[in-house]
Amino acid sequence: TEMPVFDAPQGQGGETRQVAGNGVEALTTAQGVPVADDQNSLKQGARGPTLMEDFHFREKIFHFDHERIPERVVHARGFGAHGFFELTESLADITRADIFQRVGERTEAFVRFSTVAGSKGSFDLARDVRGFAVKLYTKEGNWDIVGNNIPVFFIQDAMKFPDLIHAAKPEPDRGFPQAQTAHDNFWDFISLTPESMHMVMWIMSDRAIPRSFRFMDGFGVHTFRLVDADGRSTFVKFHWKPKRGLQSVAWNEAVKINGADPDFHRRDLWAAIKAGDFPEWELGLQLFDQDFADSFDFDVLDATKIIPEELVPVRIVGRLVLDRRVDNFFAETEQVAFCTQNIVPGIDFTNDPLLQGRNFSYLDTQLKRLGSPNFTHLPVNAPRCPFAHFQQDGHMAMRNPAGRANYEPNSWGAAIGGPREDPERGFKSVAASPEGDKLRIRPESFADHYSQAVQFYVSQTPIEQKHIGDALVFELSKVERPDIRSRMVSHLLNIDGDLAGTVARGLGLAVPKPAQAAVQPRTDLPPS
Ligand code: HEM
Repeated sequence: TEMPVFDAPQGQGGETRQVAGNGVEALTTAQGVPVADDQNSLKQGARGPTLMEDFHFREKIFHFDHERIPERVVHARGFGAHGFFELTESLADITRADIFQRVGERTEAFVRFSTVAGSKGSFDLARDVRGFAVKLYTKEGNWDIVGNNIPVFFIQDAMKFPDLIHAAKPEPDRGFPQAQTAHDNFWDFISLTPESMHMVMWIMSDRAIPRSFRFMDGFGVHTFRLVDADGRSTFVKFHWKPKRGLQSVAWNEAVKINGADPDFHRRDLWAAIKAGDFPEWELGLQLFDQDFADSFDFDVLDATKIIPEELVPVRIVGRLVLDRRVDNFFAETEQVAFCTQNIVPGIDFTNDPLLQGRNFSYLDTQLKRLGSPNFTHLPVNAPRCPFAHFQQDGHMAMRNPAGRANYEPNSWGAAIGGPREDPERGFKSVAASPEGDKLRIRPESFADHYSQAVQFYVSQTPIEQKHIGDALVFELSKVERPDIRSRMVSHLLNIDGDLAGTVARGLGLAVPKPAQAAVQPRTDLPPS
């Protein structure tokens, strides 16, 4: 929260402030040298060449030249805020996670909302998934729920993620479109990826153009585990439910807003918090055990499926409130590093092959994006609880181990020997016993790509269904290749005949007939 540039470290001469006059802090170089003239470079003669000797000029330009860091490879455009999580129902009987023990206790939180496909400078109201990433600074380490505002995903296996994102981002030869799904590459990939059909229904719905981050759901998407002190685990799906309910805009509103105010969503969040109208969500959990999971006709490890709330009601256990804006966008919103593998004792993964891949991807990309393995030293990423380890050195090391010991086991004794393992409190993975051959394969239980797409479509009101049809016609009308359009209509036929007909008519294609069932019912028998 302070400007560290003016804040020399304790005990290193920081006690005396450099004062320029009228009590104003003196402008200095990064080395702390007071600056007399920040307007003019050092020249040989009033109209002469600038001198190499001008260390102030060179330092200033050098630093400016290196201000940009790579934007996130996805979710580049985002907006963050600080807040807290408050537990309203104890889960002490289900998980040992410290954050879920004591009702009424608050845990500091940082949340970043984002779009996925657009670059950092793109507009807010693109038709897109919204990221909903939550960092919870718990007393036993940082726990990140890196979620979206849609409960399912396009693909089942992380192996397909680079293809999905390449297809969604600007086409490589022309560099456009910048932030929309409407183009040949995207729909080509989608039309060849039936597992994406459930997500496609959501992304063509009003959910993909939210009115505000404040009126939007969040979902952890994958099935995770809550684990008790004895190592017993319960499956869990995480839900963030907005206290003010859901709101979206219509497509023609989105188009106008993008033109008039591309920062609509970030301005909205900023203004609401500034006005003291703090956005709030409830944390809901869907909890179920292995036997229950086995009773579903889909796989709980398949991120293209939801667990229907009729089967497993959402249990509200806490609330998330955003009550503080960032002091500096770059330091906090841009440098925050969320990662699905940031979990704490009492939480664990499942074998969802999308989640397993994400666990590798985030840390890997953040080394590139933030430039050093020491990005956990940045205030927004550092744990708020005590922490101690023997990791050292690397670019920008700011918290190297003090003293003699930087390894363990060591026999230097408690005072200088450093931290020790804690078999009692330390993180332990659930003792799962996977079996089977080493294979590249998609299990049969991941094979139904249409049933939940149908369920989502029929759950929509008539006006919402119309919006889905309109969105598909608009998007696919931007696709130049007729075969891609036809392939999409064929998929829609597996979801809803009327929807397929509407889209076909909207695109000027022949209205397709549903395929005949492979086995025809007999009509020559008397009614029973
Ligand atoms: C970034 C969510 C799938 C790789 C993000 C962010 C969110 C998110 C919210 C933005 C984080 C931020 O605000 O800083 C999701 C969800 C997924 C999903 C909900 C599916 C359920 C994947 C997969 C991969 C992946 C399968 C790769 C295998 C990345 C990467 C970033 C990112 C590389 C950029 C991270 C950074 O630079 O800090 N994702 N994602 N995501 N995601 Fe995902």
